[in-house]
Amino acid sequence: MLDRELSRRNLIKVAVAGAGVAAFAPRIARTTFAAPPPLAQKPNYKVGFAQVEENNPWRIAQTESMRSEAQRLGHELIYTNADGSDAKQISDVDSMIAQRVDLIFLAPSTEDPLAQACVKAKAAGIPVILLDRNVNEEIARPGEEYVCFIGSDFVQEGARAAEFLARVTNGTAQIIELEGTTGSSPAIDRQKGFRDYLAGTYNNADHLGTPAASAGFPNMQIVASQTGDFARDLGRQTFETLYAANPTATAVYAHNDEMAIGAILALEAQGKVPGKDVIIVSVDGSRDALQAIIDGKMAATVECNPRFGPKAFETLAAYAAGEQIAPKIINPDKFFDATNAAQEIANAY
Ligand code: AHR
Repeated sequence: MLDRELSRRNLIKVAVAGAGVAAFAPRIARTTFAAPPPLAQKPNYKVGFAQVEENNPWRIAQTESMRSEAQRLGHELIYTNADGSDAKQISDVDSMIAQRVDLIFLAPSTEDPLAQACVKAKAAGIPVILLDRNVNEEIARPGEEYVCFIGSDFVQEGARAAEFLARVTNGTAQIIELEGTTGSSPAIDRQKGFRDYLAGTYNNADHLGTPAASAGFPNMQIVASQTGDFARDLGRQTFETLYAANPTATAVYAHNDEMAIGAILALEAQGKVPGKDVIIVSVDGSRDALQAIIDGKMAATVECNPRFGPKAFETLAAYAAGEQIAPKIINPDKFFDATNAAQEIANAY
């Protein structure tokens, strides 16, 4: 993963530096290092919320949180749904710029194309706050092209999943990894945290509240890894294919709950017992996942809290008031397993 991360970043550097690398060249590159556009203080704002997709409980909960907080505060919310398409989300941001919204909350689909949308909004004088996913900082940076990132520490989430799995398997497992949307920051970082932890190279110092780094787990092997695009049915299909090729797999690490539920459905369809034949860990904390933990089908899920509304609008107000905004505002996340799923399910989405 480190190799992939480094090579991706290096390719972007080459692309920004030279005009000849068309495949990777951002159409709009960073030109200035000045602060993001200011936001006037006023009682009500016209605010854009460019949502990436609305096809799972996590996204529905996030949108609901943004809508209800905007309504409570009396702001107008211009909402768009990109249906998972980078191109649609870029044009959604263009449309918000054309409508002269005061500020754009952007939940970016993937890291590189949507970094360019931040550059464009800045050029148009509209500040952007990133919600839940990040963009490529070689193209757009907090405090420069956008105000800040608000969300979870995805690398830490991956490490927490790995730490749990290593503990409950006594350090021996054949793991199938279901990756999130290719090129998205949660897919990149959840993979990195998980793999680094198992390799013993996880860097605690960069990640708040993390478990201790270990000497590594040579008997924890990732036998297959492929994207299920954060979706239940694609997760099910991807797992079926990978499990058919790796029938000795004993564990699943899914980058979100929807794909984990997909793997559970696939196992049950084959007469296997999820939670016994194959141990499943994932990320999010949805109601379905907590129910699966209560039912013994899933072992654990690392929370990735989708309720952004209060923090998003609090940050908008602080920015308008001229306060110093931290480049990264990290949500505190819980961890759900058999010890607490029954108590926590009442709060789940
Ligand atoms: O960016 C956060 C991720 O996006 C959530 O884990 C996933 O469920 C969603 O689609």
